[in-house]
Amino acid sequence: MLFEPFVSRSLHLKNRLVMSPMTRSRAVAANTPNALMADYYGQRASAGLIITEGTSPSPNGLGYPRIPGIFSAAQVAGWKKITDAVHSKGAKIFVQLMHTGRIGHPNNLPQGAAVVGPSAVLAAGEMYTDAEGAKPHPTPKAMTEADIKTAIGEFEHAAKSAVAAGFEGIELHGANGYLLEQFIRPNSNKRTDAYGGSIENRARFVLDVVKATTAAIGKDKVGIRLSPFGVFNDMPIYPEMEADYAYLARALNATGLFYIHLVDHSPMGAPAVPQSIKDTFRKEFKGVLILSGGYDAARAESDLEAGKADLIAVGRPLLANPDLVERWKTGAPLNPPDMDTFYTPGAKGYTDYPDAGNAAARPRGTTAAA
Ligand SMILES: Cc1cc2nc3c(=O)[nH]c(=O)nc-3n(C[C@H](O)[C@H](O)[C@H](O)COP(=O)(O)O)c2cc1C
Repeated sequence: MLFEPFVSRSLHLKNRLVMSPMTRSRAVAANTPNALMADYYGQRASAGLIITEGTSPSPNGLGYPRIPGIFSAAQVAGWKKITDAVHSKGAKIFVQLMHTGRIGHPNNLPQGAAVVGPSAVLAAGEMYTDAEGAKPHPTPKAMTEADIKTAIGEFEHAAKSAVAAGFEGIELHGANGYLLEQFIRPNSNKRTDAYGGSIENRARFVLDVVKATTAAIGKDKVGIRLSPFGVFNDMPIYPEMEADYAYLARALNATGLFYIHLVDHSPMGAPAVPQSIKDTFRKEFKGVLILSGGYDAARAESDLEAGKADLIAVGRPLLANPDLVERWKTGAPLNPPDMDTFYTPGAKGYTDYPDAGNAAARPRGTTAAA
C-alpha cells in the first residue's frame, strides 16, 4: 500500500509516504526561504506529501536560529520557489506552522518580538543562539487575551500566505512542546481565564486556531500534529493526559479538519506512547490519520495494511536519502543521517546526500544549485 496512490477529498498523492517536518535552520537571511532550500525539498519529492520544517506564523514564534517564517511578502515569494520545485516532481507540500512560544531566546528573534507563552512558566533547558551559543530559555511573557487574538490572526494570515505561496495546505504544530501544546498542557498553562483550567479551556486556543484557519482557507487544507505522551521541551506526563487527548480527538473531529498527524518519539528514546491513545484517535477522528516515528518500509507497510493509519510520515530516513522511495522499493542500503549537520547553515549534510541520480554528478559538499 505504501507506494500506491492515495486520494482523500481534494488531495491526490502519488504514494502514502509523507516527509515528516524537520527543522533544518538554513533560512540564514531574515528567516526567508532560499534557493538552497528549494533544492533540498525538490530532491525529496519522491515522497507523495512533504511537510516542511516548522515555519513561524509570527515574529514571536521564531525561537530557533535561522528558521523560516511565512508572514512577510519576501517569505511568501521564497516559499513559492519551493512549492514550484516540489510540484514539478509530482509531489504535494504542506507547510508546518510552528509558533515556538516559550521555547526560544530573544537573540533569535527579530527586533520588537518577544518570547511569549500561555503563562509566565519557565521551560527547563536551553536554546542555541548563533551569537552566544546555548542560553537558558527566558521566562515567557504571559499572553493577554489581546495577545491571544493577535496570535490567532497571525495563524490565519499565515494560512492565507501558505495558499498564496502554492502550498496544498498547512499543518498546525500542536506537538513537541511549542505554543499550541503549551496551551494544552497544565504544566505550562496556569491561566484562570477561558483559555486555562479544564481541558475544554486548555484546548480552546488550539480549536480557535483550527477554526480561524479552516474558515480562511478551507477544511481540506488544514491538518494538525499532536504528541500525546510526548515529553519534549519540558512537558511532563500527567494523570489526565489520555482523557485530555481523547477530548481533543473528538473536538478536532467536530471541526472537520483534514488530518491529524500523531508523533511517537519512543524510537528516539522518549517514553512509550500507549497504543490505546492511537486507537482512540483512529476511532474518534473520521479524517485522515498520519502516524510517525521510527518507521522503516516493513513497519510502514504493516501499519497501513492493518488500517492503523492512512499515511506514514518518515523523518530521518528521508533527510539522509532523497531517493528513499526508490531505495525502499529495491531494498538498496540507506545513507545514515549525519546529526552534526542537522541544524548547521549551508549545503553540507543538507543537499549533498548521495542518491542514485546524483552520486556521481554531485559529490558531497556541492549542490545542484551551486
Ligand atoms: C533534524 C530534525 C528536525 C526536526 N524538526 C521538527 C519540526 O520542525 N517539527 C516537528 O513537528 N518535528 C520535528 N522533528 C521530528 C520529526 O518530524 C519526526 O517526528 C522524528 O524525526 C521521528 O521520526 P523518524 O524516526 O522518521 O525520524 C525533527 C526531527 C529531526 C531529526
